[in-house]
Amino acid sequence: MSMVAAQAATASEIIAGGFLPAKRFYSPAFAALEAERLWPSVWQLACRERELPSSGDWTTFDILGQSVVVVRQPDGALRAFHNACPHRGNRLVDGSGNARHFVCSYHCWSFELDGQLHAIPEREDFPPLDEACYGLCEVRVETWGGFVFVHLDPEAQSLQAWLAGLSEELSVYAFEEMACFMRRRISLPFNWKTCLDAFQEVYHVRGVHPQLLPVLKTAASTFHYWGPHSMMCNPNGEPAARGSGSADDRSLMLEFRRSKADAGDLDVSQLGESRLIDNYQYHLFPNISFNTHATGCQLFRFLPDPRDVESMLLDIWFLERDNAGVERAAEAKSHTLDGECTSFGQSLAGFTLPPGVRSFGQDLVDIYAAALDQDFEQLRPVQRGLHSAGLPPLPLSSQEQRIAHWNATLDKCLAGPGLDEAMQFRGVPREPPDGDGRC
Ligand code: FES
Ligand SMILES: [Fe+2]
Repeated sequence: MSMVAAQAATASEIIAGGFLPAKRFYSPAFAALEAERLWPSVWQLACRERELPSSGDWTTFDILGQSVVVVRQPDGALRAFHNACPHRGNRLVDGSGNARHFVCSYHCWSFELDGQLHAIPEREDFPPLDEACYGLCEVRVETWGGFVFVHLDPEAQSLQAWLAGLSEELSVYAFEEMACFMRRRISLPFNWKTCLDAFQEVYHVRGVHPQLLPVLKTAASTFHYWGPHSMMCNPNGEPAARGSGSADDRSLMLEFRRSKADAGDLDVSQLGESRLIDNYQYHLFPNISFNTHATGCQLFRFLPDPRDVESMLLDIWFLERDNAGVERAAEAKSHTLDGECTSFGQSLAGFTLPPGVRSFGQDLVDIYAAALDQDFEQLRPVQRGLHSAGLPPLPLSSQEQRIAHWNATLDKCLAGPGLDEAMQFRGVPREPPDGDGRC
């Protein structure tokens, strides 16, 4: 299994652009390499700690053919297990719930919350077996910022080491003090990377979100890297940048964000002006993207669809800082849309902000819904077009450098037999040599 080191990226690892073979977005062989070498070698966001407040609360996290159940222990700790019964392999639980024991639905073997075998009906009919080997198989679980991560490799580096300097960078946002007040799961007709890449750059704002152009200064973005992870900062209303922004725009934005914080009685003094005004967007390798601001965060989890390499599941979570003096918003339940609903905006029909949510107004929900649906509409013809026999390797500009960076990291994970040259990403370092860019 390839391991990806999570030290800060060195200058030579920071890639300014590159060339991306289109096959990576539809080839079953490439998806098989991801299943074998990527997903088992990374920490994966499974759930929020607040989803499991009480002893016996459990929830499942599925990735391709693997399923993990995370469960709160009587002593408050979290443990995670492969979600399969060691008798004949039955999936133990689905969704989320609360239990004193796990009882398998097939032949009623039962297990303690700590995974140990509790009872085997008609035990005397089995040959001698070591009961210590027939508990649930444990999975690594660690937490950061109220997020629960699991890792399928028992030898993996710690979550703290994996996050490198990112956890310090993000501590000002106090994610552990946030409630997830809205969750939606949508099934979308494109590869998970096709979708992720639209969250890695704002070069597409001109074509897809023209309503954002007056405030978002796309060409003035800056990029930062922590090992495999990255951040893009898009200045809002920066007068020196391309576009029509002005210093007044920044004052207005600051006022708007401060008014949101005031609405929730939130202390945002630990955030500098830029973090109040500008768009800070992080990528947690490989499949988490989130925008952070003064009062909350919008998080996106991109999951491959086990049935189809050109389909995916997108989880959309809106989180808000706990408002001072108000009862915490209840942690939202996941809401999966049926296959007929293809719009995030439609999925919100009937949604109202919970009473505890004060700083994240309906105006922000509407802005996000409109922009996300614009992305999803655009990505359908992208996925179709990627099959064209007439495509050269797809060139990535410096504005798209995060796509280059994460694909270079992905190739480190996938390296080995089967990753043939026709599927490999070709990165261009910061100073491109003469002549690079030929087909
Ligand atoms: S498969 Fe679980 S008890 Fe038989
Ligand atoms: Fe977009």
